[in-house]
Amino acid sequence: MVSTIIGIFIAYLILIFYFNLKHPEIRWNWKKINTSNLNFPKYFFWGTASAAHQVEGNCNNNNWYKWENSIDENGTPRIKNNQKSGNACNHWNLYKEDIELIKKLGVSHYRISIEWSKIQPNKNEFDTEAIHHYSEVINNLIANNITPVITLHHFTNPIWFDKMGGFEKEENIHFFVNFCKKIFSLYSKKVKLWCTINEPGVYAFMGYFMGMFPPGTKNIKLAITVLTNLLIAHTRVYYALKKLPNGKHNKIGIVKNIMQFDPYRRWHFLDWIVCKITNKVYNKMTLSYLEKGRANIYIPFIINHKYEDKQAAGATDFFGLNYYSHIHLKFQLKNKEFLVNKYLKNDIMTDMPYAMYPEGFYRAIKLVSKLNKPILITENGVADKKDNIRSLFISRYIYAMNKAINEGVNVIGYFYWTLMDNFEWVEGYNMKFGLYKVNFSTQKRELREGSKTFIKIINETKK
Ligand code: BGC
Repeated sequence: MVSTIIGIFIAYLILIFYFNLKHPEIRWNWKKINTSNLNFPKYFFWGTASAAHQVEGNCNNNNWYKWENSIDENGTPRIKNNQKSGNACNHWNLYKEDIELIKKLGVSHYRISIEWSKIQPNKNEFDTEAIHHYSEVINNLIANNITPVITLHHFTNPIWFDKMGGFEKEENIHFFVNFCKKIFSLYSKKVKLWCTINEPGVYAFMGYFMGMFPPGTKNIKLAITVLTNLLIAHTRVYYALKKLPNGKHNKIGIVKNIMQFDPYRRWHFLDWIVCKITNKVYNKMTLSYLEKGRANIYIPFIINHKYEDKQAAGATDFFGLNYYSHIHLKFQLKNKEFLVNKYLKNDIMTDMPYAMYPEGFYRAIKLVSKLNKPILITENGVADKKDNIRSLFISRYIYAMNKAINEGVNVIGYFYWTLMDNFEWVEGYNMKFGLYKVNFSTQKRELREGSKTFIKIINETKK
């Protein structure tokens, strides 16, 4: 009996030791690191990014508009303090002034998204004014030597598409493909870099598992179906655009957020298990789909989902990586919740419910480099209202990215999220991610002190 217990104990220790070895939570000694020691290849470019619903204003024909104007089953507004995106940064009208601000940063690229509901307000109608507007934005960017990069889907759907069930139904995907073909036919002569879908995992899990994005559902099976449909949509859009004029030469990629789930107690088997499952659902499923064309999930007693499409393997010209941070998970058996987010004593917290973790950026880049596609950092940035840690964040995260590049990973560019403070989804206007601070009463923009570190790095790398 005693020897059995000792045997089990030793087996447990070996297993935990193996997990720790295989998935180390990298930590660097920042005191010994000179973050200004950077070295970028000649072709590397810098940019900044935004998304239509967050900045344009008057996005009142999409699912987020409905969401912002609704309440949950307890009568609580969906967005913090009942905020609405409303006029946002009025970027729709102020884009020319904003392009001047982009130029002042010294970046060469600007990532925007096209608001589907403005281009196609109804199933059978394309809006010529909206088409003209984006065409003007693109022309103005190019005239100012800023390369436009287009995202075709950044969290929002037209109301008509949502009413049909949106991405819950595979048979609806062709509507999105048609919209993408239309946009590509219009702008692909001038725009060379295309992102199909922004963060399919975030869309699916926030909307269908956490219930915090529209439609506010909490159903893991449906979340997996929606995620699968978004991945299928990416593949279909990819092949459809490749067949169009300019398709062959333009680069078309998907954008994925990587967020690692690390065990809070590295000695606790159950913390490892919950992290393994969460990582699988949140990160690995999409990566495996892009690499092998397989989107499979098996969680005993809960879900056994299989999807395979050989054509999907490798169907992306680049991997768009969004990275912010990681999460520590602890297993628990309280209030019907099995896991809880924990923070470490020395964590430098951002204003979002996660800490600064530049080493995780390095880990994420290394992880996605296994797909053997050029990597584009499509988003990276920090919510820091007091501007206390923005400068540190920028220098450490860029250092981490540079380290991966120096070790041979093919990262081709970096977009800082975001140009200016904007509507941060459920958080409303509380989160300040902007390089520029925005006064929403006057629409005045002001460069933040901490953002100067970004400008300095760009200037140094140009030398
Ligand atoms: C999204 C952005 C968002 C940012 C900061 C990303 O998940 O693509 O729209 O503002 O994170 O939370």
